[in-house]
Amino acid sequence: MNQFEYKNPTKIIFGQNKIAELAKEIPAKAKVLILYGGGSIKSNGIYDQVKAALADFNVMEFGGIPPNPEYAVLMDALDFIKSNEINFLLAVGGGSVIDGTKFLAAAAYYEGETPWDILTSRKPVLKAMPFASVLTLPATGSEMNSGAVVTRNETKEKLAMGGPALFPQFSILDPQVIQSIPERQIANGLADAFTHVLEQYLTYPTEALLQDRFAESILQTLTEVAPKVLKDPSDYKAAANFMWSCTMALNGLISQGVPSDWAVHAMGHELTALFGIDHARTLAIIAPSHYKYNMDSKQEKLAQYAERVFNINEGSTEEKALAVIDATESFFHSLGIKTRLSEYTQDYKGTSELISERFTQRGWMGIGERGSLSPDDVAKIVEMAY
Ligand code: NZQ
Ligand code: ZN
Repeated sequence: MNQFEYKNPTKIIFGQNKIAELAKEIPAKAKVLILYGGGSIKSNGIYDQVKAALADFNVMEFGGIPPNPEYAVLMDALDFIKSNEINFLLAVGGGSVIDGTKFLAAAAYYEGETPWDILTSRKPVLKAMPFASVLTLPATGSEMNSGAVVTRNETKEKLAMGGPALFPQFSILDPQVIQSIPERQIANGLADAFTHVLEQYLTYPTEALLQDRFAESILQTLTEVAPKVLKDPSDYKAAANFMWSCTMALNGLISQGVPSDWAVHAMGHELTALFGIDHARTLAIIAPSHYKYNMDSKQEKLAQYAERVFNINEGSTEEKALAVIDATESFFHSLGIKTRLSEYTQDYKGTSELISERFTQRGWMGIGERGSLSPDDVAKIVEMAY
């Protein structure tokens, strides 16, 4: 096991009707900006709960943050924050609203020339406005991590940022919120969280017994609750397990002391930037090809995953590894998620070269857990996913 330091300062407030506890967590004199997305919170009652909880606070609001939070919209929000002397941000939404809020928290305190540089510089964010979240969509883990991803339509880019100042102060997780989520987004949440675990687990053996079993237990829990939450999002027991699994999949715990990959996300983000495909679906497109392409370096962990998560015990290490890639693809299909790029767009030719060129331009010459996947490898993996 590698050496590590671990600190996660986000307070989680989990359970039914916990949104009512907002007022206890926000400083009394704060000038609060509620940030939200396209309006789902207004039709499902979450907005009313937040407003009721904050009745005694000085509150303003900014809505309209789109899925894959758009830089231009966030720059309007930044003007609003500055001109209204806001000093506390409250994200009410899914990963897009929380990530957008993280960008704003950093941008509000940023001293450089243009806030886009926060994303291109890849420097950790050390100063940010205090912020918190009310999670409405289990998926990304953004509610308990310090990362964010921002999209810029103008240049068709989607870039990540992060740093110790970008943990939410607290996040409220009421599993009842999933009742209003469309099936497509529930499927996305399951696939995204599942792939987050794979990115931190399907690398090479390191004798990190506990981290492996944490990862496997999250994968098992997600496969167990998936059909239940898809069938009936008002099944509270299943919703609670789904929500907590998504948070635990990417709050930093399972990655301590072990290598992580994140190549699937790096390639997936490009597919969202180029074609607007939902984040989770881009992962389902790339993952099977990525694991097949890297069979030699990943087969021991793939075989362990086969045995412990999908009960595939027959055959050689390589046969088990290949079988579990098929099982993973079937799991995505069981969620109603297609796993080929050509099933999402007819315009896919040339994508592999384009992504590979972009990686070269950014200096991403070696990705994956060993830093060994070159832009040429990336082109081959993306092409296998057509
Ligand atoms: O915009 P509204 O009206 O709120 O509707 C949203 C949106 O259309 C809807 N929704 C959310 N909660 C709902 C609901 N509809 C009904 N009832 C509810 N309770 O769902 C749609 C999708 O929301 P979005 O926030 O975009 O989804 P998700 O949580 O999957 O976030 C995706 C974004 O997070 C980034 C992705 O790249 C993408 O930009 N990620 C962030 C990560 C992080 N910060 O750690 C890691 C991830 O790997 C990922 O990259
Ligand atoms: Zn993800």
